[in-house]
Amino acid sequence: MIKKCLFPAAGYGTRFLPVTKATPKEMLPILTKPLIQYGVEEASDAGMDIMAIITGRGKRALVEHFDISYELEHQIKGTSKEELLRTTRDIMDKCTFTFTRQTEMLGLGHAILKGEPLIGNEPFGVILADDLCSNDEGENVLAQMVKIYDRYKCCVVAIQEVPKEETYKYGVIDGKEIEDDVFIVSNMVEKPDPADAPSNLAIIGRYILTPDIFRTIEETKPGKNGELQITDALMNHAKKGMVLAYKFKGKRFDCGSVDGFVQATNHFYAKMKKEEK
Ligand code: UTP
Repeated sequence: MIKKCLFPAAGYGTRFLPVTKATPKEMLPILTKPLIQYGVEEASDAGMDIMAIITGRGKRALVEHFDISYELEHQIKGTSKEELLRTTRDIMDKCTFTFTRQTEMLGLGHAILKGEPLIGNEPFGVILADDLCSNDEGENVLAQMVKIYDRYKCCVVAIQEVPKEETYKYGVIDGKEIEDDVFIVSNMVEKPDPADAPSNLAIIGRYILTPDIFRTIEETKPGKNGELQITDALMNHAKKGMVLAYKFKGKRFDCGSVDGFVQATNHFYAKMKKEEK
């Protein structure tokens, strides 16, 4: 059973300035719900109930969001507005939230390593909340990945096909397909130029990791942009053992970019209107 999910959320969110100057990117709303809550709900629906959030300076709203707001809740008690807080209260009842800070933003790999005291010696999920995933047809993306983990008991990364000219935005894998949509990773490159990309299979913000990844991250040197990249650590890990890449079912919106954010908003708005009918 995977019980814990890590949310690296300490990044600066520079693509979304100026709003991210004083507001965490993960608190940007798609309709009325912040991105982090979509992520936490996905992890909860995948069976996890301990949420470990890596925050940073100026990101206290992430902590406040998952706490009781006595004054506000007293104010709306008994009115129709109470219902608007229901999803947040539900998730607070179901889950325990733990937090730690990344004081220097040295990359995603570094942020994940900072989570070790919250995770300990067990396999765990990782969600980058700005990658918003939705599967209207069935199980959510992390739940699909848990099933792969249960069969192979190794690290699993989520991948999707992207246009070749966009590989420079992602970690890109190469590998051998061992069953439908499951690949054994043989190569992984962080943000390759399209000419150097090993494929068009891009890693998105969902991972299942085994705790030995922490030692591999420590052994990994900073890579692209001088940051400690989880892609490089996973490549090192793949040399020692098996890392799988899973082409998930569903949609993914890059809400760290304006285009993806608007697409996600339109998608969830259309879904809400359909459900209202
Ligand atoms: P991004 O590459 O999206 O970086 O990080 P960013 O800083 O959030 O946004 P931009 O590119 O400046 O606009 C991917 C994920 O890794 C986390 C981010 O919070 C995001 O969820 N991250 C990244 C950290 O927690 N710490 C880091 O040092 C870097």
